[in-house]
Amino acid sequence: MNSTTTPSSRAAAPRHFDPAIAEVALKGLRAPRKTLPAHLLYDEAGCRLFEAITRLPEYYVTRTELALLRQLGPELRERIGPGAAVVEYGAGAPAKAALLLAALDRPAAYVPFDIAEGAVTATAEALRQRFPGLALHPLVGDFMDGIALPELPRPLLGFFPGSTIGNLDPEAAVRFLRKVRAALGEEARFLVGVDLPKSPEVLVPAYDDAAGVTAAFNLNLLHRLNREAGAAFDAARFTHRAVWNATDSRIEMHLQSRQPHSVAVAGVPIHFEAGETIHTENSYKRSPDAFLALAAQAGWRGEALWLDPEGLFSLHLLAA
Ligand code: AVJ
Repeated sequence: MNSTTTPSSRAAAPRHFDPAIAEVALKGLRAPRKTLPAHLLYDEAGCRLFEAITRLPEYYVTRTELALLRQLGPELRERIGPGAAVVEYGAGAPAKAALLLAALDRPAAYVPFDIAEGAVTATAEALRQRFPGLALHPLVGDFMDGIALPELPRPLLGFFPGSTIGNLDPEAAVRFLRKVRAALGEEARFLVGVDLPKSPEVLVPAYDDAAGVTAAFNLNLLHRLNREAGAAFDAARFTHRAVWNATDSRIEMHLQSRQPHSVAVAGVPIHFEAGETIHTENSYKRSPDAFLALAAQAGWRGEALWLDPEGLFSLHLLAA
């Protein structure tokens, strides 16, 4: 250990001011209803906390989708045929891609695509060892910008698990589905995990767990802004809230100020009333009809649909 390091600086994660992050944070915090873009939740600490969320007893999403993927393997293998190239959007968890690749008939290529370079290389590494013959083409970028794919063997299968599409409001979801449709081209298929609407008695605890992991995940955003946006948040002044918005069929995560106070963000004072919230994430829950209506607007038709026995989660196979 470095003897010149003070205890406080040793405990803190590195500070690196990023003007782009300060700018998006200020834009959201100066709006009449304060918001922060959900992608800011997923820094390194946030990704680790999200991993922990996927193992919580209340968070049915991940284990239900994994079980579904195992179960639909043979039918998917039949439908897709041999030699497919798989393009995964938001590749962060190699377990799902491994299940999919193991189910398919001699898959030829795998493209893990994510905004986080670390996630992409880790996923590619994990799969290199399990699937020695598979061509790997890791790709870093923002999937809302569209992607330029390398030359790939056919058939093409896009893969977007985890109900990550639930982060996108209907307009953004259609825009995203169109980009994927354009990138994958004619005759492609797209396998998408979509979380289903259900009782708030199940949904709210899934986003506000007893162990407080989701609260830590949400509050990490304030620590991140302190490090990267020149902010001075005291996280103890905020409470995590998960709210079911039935009108929009979505779980909303908020950070609620316990008392009136002001916080400087990159030199700009931001005032909070008691009880005022920062809206940090949406998680839309979509019925098969609701999702297929969005997919149709983007030029996809539903080819197959699988639900778990409890009707918690769905996997859609779309065809171009
Ligand atoms: C990563 C967007 C799929 O909405 O369930 C989980 C994020 N946030 N708990 C979800 C999340 C809090 C998650 N997605």
